[in-house]
Amino acid sequence: MVTTGSNSARTPGPPLWLLAELTYRCPLQCPYCSNPLDFAAQGGELSTAEWIDVFRQARELGAAQLGLSGGEPLVRQDLVELIRAARELGYYSNLITSGIGLTEAKVAAFAEAGLDHIQISFQAADEELNNLLAGSGKAYAQKVAMARAVKAHGYPMVLNFVTHRHNIDRIDRIIELCIELEADYVELATCQFYGWAQLNRAGLLPSKAQLERAERITNEYRERLRVQGHPCKLIFVTPDYYEERPKACMNGWGSLFLDITPDGTALPCHSARQLPIRFPNVREHSIRHIWQESSGFNRFRGYDWMPEPCRSCDEKEKDFGGCRCQAFLLTGDAANPDPVCAKSDRHDLILDARREAQEAAPALEQLQFRNEKASRLICKG
Ligand code: FES
Repeated sequence: MVTTGSNSARTPGPPLWLLAELTYRCPLQCPYCSNPLDFAAQGGELSTAEWIDVFRQARELGAAQLGLSGGEPLVRQDLVELIRAARELGYYSNLITSGIGLTEAKVAAFAEAGLDHIQISFQAADEELNNLLAGSGKAYAQKVAMARAVKAHGYPMVLNFVTHRHNIDRIDRIIELCIELEADYVELATCQFYGWAQLNRAGLLPSKAQLERAERITNEYRERLRVQGHPCKLIFVTPDYYEERPKACMNGWGSLFLDITPDGTALPCHSARQLPIRFPNVREHSIRHIWQESSGFNRFRGYDWMPEPCRSCDEKEKDFGGCRCQAFLLTGDAANPDPVCAKSDRHDLILDARREAQEAAPALEQLQFRNEKASRLICKG
């Protein structure tokens, strides 16, 4: 039944990229967090043994890369055990962390257990702004110290900055910091509008002028680094709100990405929980059943589900119809064309958002920060 590299509904290839969202608990409060708004209402976390069983089953199905994320995965006390199991199963494993809760001893213990890669995210290159966004007066100093520790232990050094209208004008300072920390890869990823970022979109979406300036400065740095033979690679991700064609989200629904949430719900992307689709849980079904047979994973596989103009579009094999979550969040129906596409009859929604971004944005303090109290209120409301 299983064949590789296909976006066909009948022959799903392996879930090459397994993302284990170990917990929704997090000491920080980023207003652009991709966790669901109602994270506080979700069920109990999978145990260590349940996670290892998920890793084993997914590996048997062909998963090769494992992301350990959250929330903040470091709040789990069993990370060494999980990392060791991942190594024994033959995964390439990546810890995606804010760095809060990391220590030199943990960095060393994770390396010894077989972790391949640690990615640390920053909120900004300015200490004050970083700490304001994170909601912790110590966050910046801790991140810098842990970035140095990660480098010292010989991991590939990957730094991630989510950029938005409150920090993107300091892109030069961000890049300088990354060079100073000897980063090998830097992700300068403009906010994607899901979860808390969608709630705060008016205060986060950069204007076109901000974005163009940031891209120009990044390109200037790229050229300078290239001429110097410097190893640092800058990856600049623009928000699709400024595109005329949608992104190939997840490389197609149920194509290679499998996300397991803290309570064991299996999703084809980290945002799909918001969709009015019943997704299976690893406590009730095998990963094989979930990936190959479940209606949730088959819902938008292949091309048969597509409405016009996607169905007859000659670019559908390139973008797979864009993002289902974005279609749902913006139009109320996940089966609609992604409004980012200029061919969509709801592209006006994107044009309105761009227009809004030219105007004065809400102040930083007015953003809705991610925390448990806000999440509970959102659940009730
Ligand atoms: Fe869910 Fe794009 S984020 S399909």
